[in-house]
Amino acid sequence: MRWLASLAVIVIASCGASETPLIQNSQITGDAIEQPLTAVPGDPESGQTLFTSRDEGHCVLCHQIDGLDAEFQGNVGPDLTLVGDRLSSSQLRLRIVDYQLVQPGALMPSYYRNHDLYQVGEAFRGETILSAQDVEDIVVYLSERKAKQDDA
Ligand code: HEC
Repeated sequence: MRWLASLAVIVIASCGASETPLIQNSQITGDAIEQPLTAVPGDPESGQTLFTSRDEGHCVLCHQIDGLDAEFQGNVGPDLTLVGDRLSSSQLRLRIVDYQLVQPGALMPSYYRNHDLYQVGEAFRGETILSAQDVEDIVVYLSERKAKQDDA
């Protein structure tokens, strides 16, 4: 039922300015989005569920995380087992939001973009794949994927 709730959020969100990009250039610093997209802090457990779910995130179709309880994990994208050591939360946020802003032509889908989406039916125009809260949940989950857990 979670998708139904997400859909409701998306429908409400898309009733406004459908062509306005969700992320403004002013929010991007270098290769990162420093400010969280929502006021509610991300929840890592929900992030893991989204990451593993084949209905919502689809992340495991292309990425692997060692020790994750998922039947089959893909290797189209980089292994994310220790991604928290490589990328900051702000860098993770931009990559999940829209990898095209880091590297045009990237294979990684743009999860929080509602403009210039190709192969999207008329009924789905203005929709994002993940909600802003979903993005925050996954950012926290991935930022905790480190060799050594610390308080930083
Ligand atoms: C269709 C395959 C595919 C899917 C699905 C996918 N990714 Fe990716 N991802 C990639 C590829 C490929 C790259 C490397 C950059 C590129 O060339 O696109 C990447 C890069 C990344 C990176 C940067 C890793 C690094 O080491 O720099 C992160 C973080 C990431 N993806 C997270 C996610 C998350 C979270 C999801 C699900 C919400 C997801 N990806 C879904 C293919 C995918």
